Amino acid sequence: MNFDEIINRYGTHSVKWDMMEKLYDVPASDGLAMWVADMDFRPPQCVSDALQAMVDHGVYGYYGDDTAYREAITWWMQTRHGWTVDPAHIFTTHGLVNGTAMCVDTYTEPGDGVVLFTPVYHAFSRVIKAAGREVVECPLVNNDGRYEMDFAAYDTMMTGAERMVILCSPHNPGGRVWTKDELQGVADFCKRHDLILVSDEIHHDLVYPGHSHIAMPLVDPTILDRLVMMTATTKTFNIAGSHSGNVIIPDDALRAKFAARMAGLGLSPNSFGLFMAEAAYSPEGAEWVDALMLYLDGNRQLLDSAINAIPGIKSMNLEATYLSWVDFTDTGMAPPEFIDRVQKQARIAPNHGDTFGSGGENFLRFNIATPRALVEQACERLTEAFSDLQ
Ligand SMILES: Cc1ncc(COP(=O)(O)O)c(C=O)c1O
Repeated sequence: MNFDEIINRYGTHSVKWDMMEKLYDVPASDGLAMWVADMDFRPPQCVSDALQAMVDHGVYGYYGDDTAYREAITWWMQTRHGWTVDPAHIFTTHGLVNGTAMCVDTYTEPGDGVVLFTPVYHAFSRVIKAAGREVVECPLVNNDGRYEMDFAAYDTMMTGAERMVILCSPHNPGGRVWTKDELQGVADFCKRHDLILVSDEIHHDLVYPGHSHIAMPLVDPTILDRLVMMTATTKTFNIAGSHSGNVIIPDDALRAKFAARMAGLGLSPNSFGLFMAEAAYSPEGAEWVDALMLYLDGNRQLLDSAINAIPGIKSMNLEATYLSWVDFTDTGMAPPEFIDRVQKQARIAPNHGDTFGSGGENFLRFNIATPRALVEQACERLTEAFSDLQ
């Protein structure tokens, strides 16, 4: 567990590092890739050992009998989140963007509205639009650097054409761990407007000390007949290349529809993802996540103190995730100007806020899941690039 080790990822087909120069014009020679949400750390040793055992055996045929994998998920949800999952309710998709797309495809029709609380993870709107459905943006309220929901306002926006809500819990990019009351508000909103709730909880393990994530089924059992839960090992353990996600559906009718769609598309899981996930959901994996969160907490504090010392620039207080959401509004600069300074002067590639939907335009998202020395460099470069504001 040496999170300080700088591992060169160039030349490994890493989208974050190998595509940076092409997409951002940030030089590979000394640029800092702080965009795509994966980490620059190796996963826990138990995960690498599981993969090594596969390689040592050396025959990579079709996977069968996922009982142990399902039990590992159930164990993790019970011990880490206090939620008892029936193993029979779990589907394995090709990641959670695929899981989201499958839900949109299974439970809505072309032209239906799908509600997002924006700004939010950009792939949601991408898959909704690609499927010919309408994105219905319900704007989060930025209350002094903290996103909150305004259900009274959202109620007035519903037209009756909406069929689904996709919730990001904890929230990417604002880093909020929604409270029980807020989650109850989402559940009540879905019931009032007869909406299916897809709760993407991929960031549920990446919560900082002092905050507790609550799994949606624990908030309100009466929501189960309209709930699709999505979780994964990939974000928690940095194994996103394995493209595996868990879609958990407690309701029989909703589950039957999803099963039919999976069968119709001929989808079955990738053995590498299942082997790694089974190894990760273990006491050793849990110990690694606890150590990871302490390390990320140090990175978060470092970036926050440098960013917030620059007049006009503010980071949102992260309660979860390693994705720092930074507000440039009070610099008075238009996005092209602050983006130019960050990419050309500081040589940092962040995600651009406008891709997360309305309200994100004046923000950039910085991925801090990288060795501390690189976060220190990012802080120095940002301070220098905006030194005229001091
Ligand atoms: C909320 C959310 N859902 C899904 C994903 C990606 O999921 P996957 O890699 O399993 O497709 C991300 C990645 O950042 C995310 O933030």
